[in-house]
Amino acid sequence: MSEVLLEMKGVSVKFGGLTALSDIDYSITSRSLACIIGPNGAGKSTFLNVLTGTLRPSIGSVAFRGRDIGGLALHRISRLGIARKFQIPSVFPSLSVAENMDVARWGAAREPDETDVLEMVGLSARRDVKAADLSHGEKQWLEIGMAIAASPKLLLLDEPTAGMTSQETQATAALLHRLKRHTAIIAVEHDISFVRALDTDTLVLHQGRLFRRGPFSEIEADEAVRDVYLGRR
Ligand SMILES: Nc1ncnc2c1ncn2[C@@H]1O[C@H](COP(=O)(O)OP(=O)(O)OP(=O)(O)O)[C@@H](O)[C@H]1O
Ligand SMILES: [Mg+2]
Repeated sequence: MSEVLLEMKGVSVKFGGLTALSDIDYSITSRSLACIIGPNGAGKSTFLNVLTGTLRPSIGSVAFRGRDIGGLALHRISRLGIARKFQIPSVFPSLSVAENMDVARWGAAREPDETDVLEMVGLSARRDVKAADLSHGEKQWLEIGMAIAASPKLLLLDEPTAGMTSQETQATAALLHRLKRHTAIIAVEHDISFVRALDTDTLVLHQGRLFRRGPFSEIEADEAVRDVYLGRR
């Protein structure tokens, strides 16, 4: 039943003489959960930037739901159903959790039930709390909830657990597994304890190349991956 949602073919991104992404072939299906790891400068953020339309591939094609999005503007891509959450939470501090959700739902193509979304992100009991009074982790979850309010088909997360306690990090892994019933997710992450807890389809980027892809258990046991990344951390 799983259809291809995103398909990248031979994607390269060059900045002058520097190749930030090199000949990437990659695809994911709907409602899948994938993680991208790799050393600093490996091309992880560039990878996400190509998917949101922030950057155009220098070579290659990106198809989303069967449509070439390689040259589309950001807002067009966003309308097609790709949402991104950045590293720094940008919720409205003086509004409550529920009010922040109202803002996010405003103008959303198909409004999901706010109660369902807050349930998914584990904030039902906190709906009347001001966003300013949430913990750092809770703010991140609220922002994930706000991204989900637009009912994206693909949610991109850049280091979703940055600054979280280890308990919040573990809770975030469980949260993403709940969310993937509604949307595909690609998370870029440095925190290996989180990647281990996610225990999912993992892509290793190294010097702009797709170095390995597989279940995290295989990636973690891979000697070559340890040499270029995991072993050094
Ligand atoms: N706008 C840009 N102009 C020039 N070079 C860039 C630009 N963006 C990224 N790069 C370079 O491309 C390479 C890949 O960068 P990218 O930010 O994708 O790496 P990353 O894997 O996200 O690293 P980090 O783990 O540090 O976030 C790096 O060498 C970086 O310096
Ligand atoms: Mg980056």
